[in-house]
Amino acid sequence: MIGKLIRSLKQRALYYLEVYRDSRRYLGACDWAGAPKRNRSVHLLGDIIRKYHVVEKALAMPEFRPGSAADVVKSLILDLEVWETLPNHDVESISQISAAHGVLGSYLKRHQELNFDVSETFVNFQPKEGSDTQVGGANPYAINQELDWSGLKKLLRGRRSLRSFDVSRIPTPEVLHSIARTALKSPSVCNRQTGRLHVFTGEKVIQLLEYQTGNRGFGHQVPVLFVVTSDMRFFLSRKERNQPGIDGGLFALQTVLAIQSEGMGSVCLNWCVDYNSDLKLREIAEIPEHENVIMLIGCGYPSSEALSPISQRYPAEAILTIH
Ligand SMILES: Cc1cc2nc3c(=O)[nH]c(=O)nc-3n(C[C@H](O)[C@H](O)[C@H](O)COP(=O)(O)O)c2cc1C
Repeated sequence: MIGKLIRSLKQRALYYLEVYRDSRRYLGACDWAGAPKRNRSVHLLGDIIRKYHVVEKALAMPEFRPGSAADVVKSLILDLEVWETLPNHDVESISQISAAHGVLGSYLKRHQELNFDVSETFVNFQPKEGSDTQVGGANPYAINQELDWSGLKKLLRGRRSLRSFDVSRIPTPEVLHSIARTALKSPSVCNRQTGRLHVFTGEKVIQLLEYQTGNRGFGHQVPVLFVVTSDMRFFLSRKERNQPGIDGGLFALQTVLAIQSEGMGSVCLNWCVDYNSDLKLREIAEIPEHENVIMLIGCGYPSSEALSPISQRYPAEAILTIH
């Protein structure tokens, strides 16, 4: 009886310790009142993306209201002015800052077309010369409808996990880039795009999989390993504490489908580990502290004799409640 109680208390304490460590890592990265200054420019970039997204959505509303989102536009302009004073404008930020200018350009253009004066909102600010309204704003949904979606259901229902790979074939860097481009089309909260992919081949795969618990019997043959993470610096305060897992999970699924679209197969590999195993993987894979590891994905071309478990699904009625 006493033994059971002690075991239960110990498990409880260990659980809270894990939660505390996760929270400490999250608070060290995300944007909140006590955030360390080192992440200031990324937090600002996150603010800019969130704000331009609000304006972009306003531009796409079924009934556009002239002057709507003016406060957000003003605040976005202030952020962009601060941004210009900061160093380190990297690849990640360049695309998003030009999107922000594109959104403001589209906003101005829409109001000019409607003959609605927004000069008070744009005092002393002009979207960057040549800012491209194709990278920010709203365009007809019909452009997406023109795509041929007919085979998608069949493809989604046809995907299966692959655990038997052709070890002689490694995807080229072009293919890996193509996977990343497709994965980036995953939806994310306010388009903050926090999903990150770390790719490994060869000996590193073996080293990393040593800390993963579900690859017995096939791990040694995995040609390419993705470590999927979410950059927590783009999340806001305690309210978004679960968002890395949500956005990261969606991003991981899109990565799985992207791999499939390149003629390869994949297997999701859980990252259900304790703090120490997580630390080990971070060290070997050189994952920065501000990224949260979501899961791993083994990937490669299928071997000619690959088998796959049937993995029977529930009937739809079992999981669907139409209220
Ligand atoms: C988050 C996650 C973690 C998983 N971890 C493992 C794993 O560690 N080892 C493994 O062999 N399969 C793993 N899988 C794959 C599942 O077993 C598989 O997706 C499920 O049985 C359905 O089969 P299917 O993918 O072939 O449709 C994982 C799947 C997910 C989504």
